[in-house]
Amino acid sequence: MLRKAFLANLIVSIFGLVTYCFAEDLPKSEKEKSELAKVMDEIDKYYKAVEQISGYYKYSPNDWKVISESSSNIAKLAKIVIRKFSRPDDQKYQDLNKMMLAESEKMFEVANRKDEQGALEDAQWQVRRLRQTCALCHKHLGIHIYPQLYPGKKDELQPEQVEIPVPK
Ligand code: HEC
Repeated sequence: MLRKAFLANLIVSIFGLVTYCFAEDLPKSEKEKSELAKVMDEIDKYYKAVEQISGYYKYSPNDWKVISESSSNIAKLAKIVIRKFSRPDDQKYQDLNKMMLAESEKMFEVANRKDEQGALEDAQWQVRRLRQTCALCHKHLGIHIYPQLYPGKKDELQPEQVEIPVPK
């Protein structure tokens, strides 16, 4: 009798443990997000807006508006990351944040000279440069997010992409 009670107890505990483990495994969105993660989500929204149109062979005035607004927003957010979420003990992280800011500012400059020859290609190039800063930092920190964010894309850094060195 006692033995049975013990067994029943054990089974209940195991179930409890299993549920507990799975609860720990909940996707990130169900947990409380860090402040930095929230800023990243914002950055991601603007980044995706420019990435979505980056394959076009011609940009409409509205597309240029998207590029201009998204890049200036990414620059603002990058400044927040630099100011509020600095990691003085991680130089590469610091450099890549500055690189994200620099590349988004360059993208904004391109949008300002949208009528000049080559502006389209320059804007597309900037999308790639920006994407690399995201990829390099996430890779540096071992954050693997893009498989979920962009289903079908295995790695953030595509095989044919060459790492652009971090400026000194
Ligand atoms: C210098 C480092 C760095 C750069 C550059 C960077 N990220 Fe991040 N990113 C992080 C860190 C750190 C986290 C994890 C934040 C956390 O969970 O607290 C993160 C997380 C994320 C997340 C997940 C947020 C969530 O909901 O959990 C997304 C999306 C993201 N970044 C998008 C981007 C995009 C898009 C870019 C480029 C335009 C970018 N990041 C550039 C460091 C960086």
